[in-house]
Amino acid sequence: MNANDAERTRQCPMAVDMIDAMEALSGIHPGYRRVHAKGACYRAVFHPSGEAAPYTTAPHLQGGAVDAIVRFSGNSSDPALADLLSPAKGMAVQFQLPGGVKTSLVGVTFPIFFAQTPESLLDLVRAVNEAQAGQLSVLDMFKEAAEHFSESKRSLLEIKRLLPPASYATNRYFTIHVFYLVDADGRRRPVKFEWMPDAGVDTLSLMEAAKRPADYLEQEMTERLQRGPASFTLQIVLGEPDDPTDDSTRPWPEERERLDAGRLVIEAAIQEPSGLLMDPTAVVDGVELSDDPILHFRHLAYAESFHRRSDSR
Ligand code: HEM
Repeated sequence: MNANDAERTRQCPMAVDMIDAMEALSGIHPGYRRVHAKGACYRAVFHPSGEAAPYTTAPHLQGGAVDAIVRFSGNSSDPALADLLSPAKGMAVQFQLPGGVKTSLVGVTFPIFFAQTPESLLDLVRAVNEAQAGQLSVLDMFKEAAEHFSESKRSLLEIKRLLPPASYATNRYFTIHVFYLVDADGRRRPVKFEWMPDAGVDTLSLMEAAKRPADYLEQEMTERLQRGPASFTLQIVLGEPDDPTDDSTRPWPEERERLDAGRLVIEAAIQEPSGLLMDPTAVVDGVELSDDPILHFRHLAYAESFHRRSDSR
């Protein structure tokens, strides 16, 4: 999506409400993303293994190397928040394809989402706002939580269990939603994408993380990249017929077959390119979106956030 597309898709009242509610979490920080505000960008190259090629015509999953931009982030709406205090981290990868075509995989460090629909997410964000402002009684807060508890419970437990990472380069990152890979004959296979850190998963205790500087994750990447590149393997999880495809709150069984689709090699820090928008719905031929309402709504919400931050509002 470019700036013009973002302007056109910005007209959704629900997306306006969502971004208003997200801004209320920590105030407006002009020029920053409305969530995942704190982050750092890197230059990278993706080397596809070819293992996914029988399942899809997508150009970045065939043979040749593809340039990419990676942005690691903390989940908070506050760009000044210490790394320790944002529990989940993000990894957004934009593949730069021939002809100026771009497609992104946007992941986080927990495998399932905490809302089934944009409506329930908006309720949750508003409930947090009201609780922060002291407008919601403890009883109302419990009522609100209970209403969403069944769909949010698993995801929130996963997030609660997260320990601070030793590095942006030592997390698994999940793109959560289901996508379809489409082969040359039009056959569709439901899949999920996951980045596995080649350096292994490495976390800190809360005590250790509390001793690190507020921006320790970006500092650690600077030191790590001075020693050599950091890398991730892109795993593609192959869905089976009964696996849910339109509900981000439900996991797939662990034992699903996986492909190693390629290796992302992160080389150096870069300034964020102007106009960078990592839209998870911007897919290319050979990849299709599932019917997950959260996935489709992200297109609208990201456009609204992009518009506001581009205005330096
Ligand atoms: C309806 C649900 C969601 C909403 C409303 C939402 C909203 C947003 C917004 C407004 C931004 C900033 C966009 C920008 O200004 O460029 C953002 C960024 C981000 N979101 Fe979401 N999000 C949702 C679901 C998710 C999910 C399911 C994931 C994980 C798979 C995710 C991961 C991220 C990441 C990693 C970023 C940072 C992207 C970057 O570095 O450019 N979000 N989100």
